[in-house]
Amino acid sequence: MDEPLHHRKNIPFFYHKSEAEFREDHYEKYDPSVLRQSMLHLSDQLWGAYPLQSVFDYVKLQVEQVDCKDILEIGCGVGRLIAELATSYPKANCWGMDYSYQLLKKAREIWMDGEDSEMNFSRYGFDSMHKIVGRALTNVQFGLCKAEQLPFSDNSQDVIVSSFLFDRLLDPIQGVREMKRVLRKNGRIIIVTPLNFIKATHWEKFYPPIKLYSQLQTMGFSIVDWREDLLIEEPLDLRGNRVQWQCVAIVLM
Ligand SMILES: C[S@@+](CC[C@H](N)C(=O)[O-])C[C@H]1O[C@@H](n2cnc3c(N)ncnc32)[C@H](O)[C@@H]1O
Repeated sequence: MDEPLHHRKNIPFFYHKSEAEFREDHYEKYDPSVLRQSMLHLSDQLWGAYPLQSVFDYVKLQVEQVDCKDILEIGCGVGRLIAELATSYPKANCWGMDYSYQLLKKAREIWMDGEDSEMNFSRYGFDSMHKIVGRALTNVQFGLCKAEQLPFSDNSQDVIVSSFLFDRLLDPIQGVREMKRVLRKNGRIIIVTPLNFIKATHWEKFYPPIKLYSQLQTMGFSIVDWREDLLIEEPLDLRGNRVQWQCVAIVLM
């Protein structure tokens, strides 16, 4: 693995993120990004269950097929998925990577430092401070990089997971190429994505999803699983407003 270029408050940076890049990145903003991601991923009590449980169940089923020593999540946000995997696989060495320092700082606080935090979700209708309980895990770390340029060595990871990332990348194919480079033989790449592209060129390239399927085959992947029926409901507020995501779940080796 590459050495970090520098650290900011214990978060290793594997990419020099300029002040302009910080300013332009929506995911560096406390509200909506850190607040919203924390409400979605770290506050199950608000919803009575974890809203992304079906993603976790799918990933876990796929991870069980692999002998896991090294697990990597790209676009980990506040770190819930990689932390759950680190808990299920206490002997595995787990990394959660993201491009947002603010999200990584929250992930580290909760999952590595084991700090409880109080968050105010009144902006979404909830009326009191909400306590998020930390868990001090010893086998997970968090770092900042770009998915298109991973700081990991070739053939170094058994499982690479990404959820709701693919369609946010400026160059999704380069992101997948990097995953392929760092994946070990017999490892698995697990991607869950709504394919909700923000660039017209990506819609042209990848819609309908069969176009993505053939590009992955051309890149030399075996497509181990491909599902287009993973429905995820993202709750938005106290009233129960929600967004439904029609996700594609892909497993590659
Ligand atoms: C929609 S959020 C998904 C977060 C979480 N994985 C989930 O399932 O809710 C997209 C995440 O990808 C990160 N991200 C965006 N572009 C990235 C890039 N080029 N490299 C790494 N992470 C990136 C964002 O900072 C954000 O945490």
